Amino acid sequence: MTMQLGLKSYLEEHVSIQLFNRACCLAVLALSCSLAVAQSATLAQTPPMGWNAWNHFKGSITDADVRAAADAMVSSGMRDVGYTYINIDDTWEGVRDAQGNIQTNSRFPGMKALADYVHSKGLKLGIYSSPGPGTCAHFEGSYNHEQQDADTYAKWGIDYLKYDLCGLRPIMKEQSKGDQLVASTIMKQAYEKMHQALLNTHRPILYSLCEYGWDSPWLWGQQVGGKAWRTTGDIGDRYDSMSLIGFSQAGLAKYAGPGHWNDPDMLEIGNGGMTPDEYQTHMSLWAILAAPLLAGNDLSKMDDVTRSILVNKDVIAVDQDRLGIQGDRVSAVGPYEIWMKPLDHKAKAVALFNRGPLAEPITIQLKDVGISGSVHGYDLWAHKDLGILKDSYTATVPRHGVVMVRLSR
Ligand code: GLA
Repeated sequence: MTMQLGLKSYLEEHVSIQLFNRACCLAVLALSCSLAVAQSATLAQTPPMGWNAWNHFKGSITDADVRAAADAMVSSGMRDVGYTYINIDDTWEGVRDAQGNIQTNSRFPGMKALADYVHSKGLKLGIYSSPGPGTCAHFEGSYNHEQQDADTYAKWGIDYLKYDLCGLRPIMKEQSKGDQLVASTIMKQAYEKMHQALLNTHRPILYSLCEYGWDSPWLWGQQVGGKAWRTTGDIGDRYDSMSLIGFSQAGLAKYAGPGHWNDPDMLEIGNGGMTPDEYQTHMSLWAILAAPLLAGNDLSKMDDVTRSILVNKDVIAVDQDRLGIQGDRVSAVGPYEIWMKPLDHKAKAVALFNRGPLAEPITIQLKDVGISGSVHGYDLWAHKDLGILKDSYTATVPRHGVVMVRLSR
């Protein structure tokens, strides 16, 4: 009897402990799941900042290059002014194993070890894939392996995914039989599929859509989980390419905001194809546009001019302003353009761009940017206090260059 009672109370206690443990596990799991979903929801409250391998390294990128980029991001001071993501682009992929798991190719001997290294520097690691069977550079894509790949990324410790349409296009074409609407639906479903797969991992992974601005991604990108979406085709390291892309962003401001950004592609600053004035235009315009700032040069071999453009805290503060309002064009008179971005505390960033072939004075009427009376001015490239400005401000802007000021009360 005593023994029976003992056994009974032992069982009761044991079972209730087990139930308690299980309930705790479920509670912890639920907590960590909702924490992960909540963390995903708060990603990219300001435009993502970091580095991406593609513009400089293209298909030659190696594990050692990525580590060197992480090292340089710290030693150059870029990390300390907000650059966070170290993003591997296309060509890291190997073949799938017998179970269908994606593997790296020989240039990336260990993605988990690489992520650990990048994390040890206080940075985050990004990766690249495609909703199609193949990527733009004809490496392995995620088609029909979405959850498996997302799980692999989470296991490796990946923090950012650029998902590039390329390889899905032949499938869209074939399955839609030329019907644009059907093709568009197939594309959106593919982006949503990876979105859900990423959420299922319970790891906050910033999801960046790349479909070159076709089909107005600013209208649906956020619905399929995009924190940013490319608005244009690929940028080149030339003034004509950069300026065509940058200045064609007029009108898109209303589609951006905290957690959802228009992405006019990565930076070319420091890659050698533009003058310092042109690279200042690049940085200023991207900041006015509240664009992701993903440096695209070889950070380990950066000269002082390049570094000073990339780490200009005053310009970065415009891009990263807490309100997250994308700026827009105020006026265009021939090749002279004025753009304005509203900032926190009722301040305004105003950029005077000269797209013409000669240095010219450009005048901004303060009323054109909603300022009546006088205002305090600060030159964000000259790092110079301009004192009190009244009614208008005139500056001589170099060929293809910019003068950028912060106006505040
Ligand atoms: C596309 C993208 C680029 C880059 C390459 C890689 O062209 O737009 O940014 O990712 O693919 O193959």
